[in-house]
Formats: sequence, structure tokens, C-alpha cells
Amino acid sequence: MLMAFNPKSIKRIGILTSGGDAPALNAVIRAAVKSAVLMNGKEVYGIRDGLEGLVVKNGIFPLSLADVRGILPLGGTILGTKNTGNFDCFFDGSPESDKHKIIKKSIRTLKKHKIDAMMLIGGEGSLSVAEYFHQANFPVVGVPKTIDNDLASTDYTFGFDTAVSVATDAIDRLTTTAESHGRVMILELMGRSAGWISLSSGIAGGADIILIPEIPFTVANVAKHIHLRESTGAHSHIIVIAEGACPKGKKPQFYKAAKGKLRLGGIGDWLALELSKKVNSEIRTTVLGHIQRGGKPTSFDRVLASRFGSYAIKMIMNGNFGRMVALQTPDIRSVSLSEAVSHYHTVDPNSGLIRTGRALGLAFGD
Ligand code: F6P
Repeated sequence: MLMAFNPKSIKRIGILTSGGDAPALNAVIRAAVKSAVLMNGKEVYGIRDGLEGLVVKNGIFPLSLADVRGILPLGGTILGTKNTGNFDCFFDGSPESDKHKIIKKSIRTLKKHKIDAMMLIGGEGSLSVAEYFHQANFPVVGVPKTIDNDLASTDYTFGFDTAVSVATDAIDRLTTTAESHGRVMILELMGRSAGWISLSSGIAGGADIILIPEIPFTVANVAKHIHLRESTGAHSHIIVIAEGACPKGKKPQFYKAAKGKLRLGGIGDWLALELSKKVNSEIRTTVLGHIQRGGKPTSFDRVLASRFGSYAIKMIMNGNFGRMVALQTPDIRSVSLSEAVSHYHTVDPNSGLIRTGRALGLAFGD
């Protein structure tokens, strides 16, 4: 017979934020600390710099109510985060033994600090690592974070709404300068292989052409739409392009960054060059980059993050481990980590949102 889970067996909870940061990470941390300490009488420990905090010295420290006071509107994460380091072996094809070794070592560190359960706030990569902790029988719950909104099983990840609102503001600003000069403005946005940020902000900002990874485009079709708009009197045009978008039959664009690292991006400049061969207007490109990840979270993200943080503590109190908190509107529920990371959540080219775009006369370059 299964023994009922006793929440008294959990005295100390560890929290870490992992991978690229996202607005409202601090709102999750605050909600979790308040709920754990005030409502459940538990101690909380912060783990510094993401999963790296589990393998470096002094990466674990007590997190009190005073530490989370005033952090609700703060961007970034008070715990720090990293998306490189020792845990790279989980993503770079290193042998399975490396992964087991590093998980074992991390669990030893957690136990040394008397941490009974861990809340891991991360994107798809970090939540896959959380699943390894679960498989190694360490009590863990996941909280979905990413501006890309590409995690399965949750309607939204926190951070996405803020990124969309920053990108929409950028489109509003580009629209007035485009109109003054009669230019084509290309705005390249983040999102990895998902077009959510570009699609949502493009519709919200009234863009004319939206190019996303899920719908391969041709430069000829983009030029055709500009000519069509010109024939109806338009003399400026806004193109929103996701960093992972690619022309039909081609692979996503990468550029060589410092230390020879290849990074996703550069498709906006490529499009400007190719399009300039087919249209007369001047063309300019803006790459919005990390502006989308920084600064104050929107109220939507603060509410979602607060719901996620407090629910994750409830999951720990109920012994609901190996699972991720998820928004399944209107409820917050939990789904298994393995299900949550089983596939990417990308834009369905036949979805209602794409149909809305097409009904508005928007072109997707296909
Ligand atoms: O996954 C979030 C994200 O911002 C992506 O949209 C982007 O491609 C990537 O992270 C950038 O990562 P970094 O901060 O390492 O440059």
C-alpha cells in the first residue's frame, strides 16, 4: 500500500532560476518564498547562478522574506542564472555517464545543505535537466519560463507577454519613422524556432508582413506584397521577422559572435540585402535583441508568475514531484516534466491567429 505523503518531511526548499532570464522571474521567487515561509512555515534557500550553483562553492544561501521584499516589479533574477557551464553535458551530446555523475554530485550538494525539495524555474533545456533529478529520486518541481512561449502543456510561459509588449512598442516607434521617410523597416525579434513573439507583436503593432519559422517565405513574395501595398498608396512598410525564420528550402541564419560562437540571428540584414534588389524604397533593419528580456514585467506576467510560484509550493506540500506547473486557462494545474519537454510548442500555420492575420491583409511571405 502507498504511504500518504507527509508535508512535514519537507523542511527546506531550494529555488533556482536557470537558462536565459525572463521578466517576472523575481515575481515567481517572491511568490514561492511568501507561500513557503508565511503560509507553510518552511525555510527557503536560493541557489545562485542556475544549475551551476549546485556545483560551485557557496552557491546556496538562505532566502528570507526580507530578501524578496520589493522585487515584484524588478526585471532579471535576484538569484542569477547561466545557460552555459557544467550542465552543458546535457545538451552537447556528452556521454550519459557525465550526466549521471553531475546529477549525483548536485544531489550530494543539496543534501549537504539539508534541502529536501527543489523548485527549478527554467525553459525547455533546464526542465529536461529537472527530469533527470526526478529520475534520480530527488524531489523536484518545475516552473515554465521563457519569453519564447515555446513550452508544451502550458497556454503561456511567463515573460512572453512582456517581450510582446516591448516588441509592440518597438513596432509603434518604427512605424512613425518609416512613415516620415517612406522606408521599409525590418524588425528582427527573438523566439528561437517559435514565431510567437513576432506573430503576436506583429498583429498588435499592425505590421504589414510577418515572417516566422513555422511558415517558410520567399523574398519574391515579400517584394510582391510591398508592390501591392504601393499600388494602393502605401509608401512605408513594416516587416517583423523572427530570428529563426528562413526562406523556403534554407536553414535558419547564424552569425559568428565573440570567441567564434555561432548565434541564431542575422536574417533581418540578409532580408534587407535581398529585398533591396527587388524594391525601390530604402530599407533599414533593427535587431531588438535582449531589450525583449530586460526590464519591468507586465501585470499579466506578474499575475501569472505569482500564480506559478505559489502553486509550485502547493505541489511540493502535496508531494506532487516530477511535475511542472502549467496554465490551462482558466486553471493552474500540473503536468509531468517528461510530457512538458517532449516537444516544442510552435505556431500552427493553420491556427486561428494566422487566419486572423490573413483576414487583416497581412502577408506571411508564403
Ligand atoms: O530562449 C530565450 C532567448 O532569448 C531566445 O529567444 C534567444 O534566441 C536566446 O534566448 C538568446 O540567448 P542568449 O541570451 O544566450 O544570447
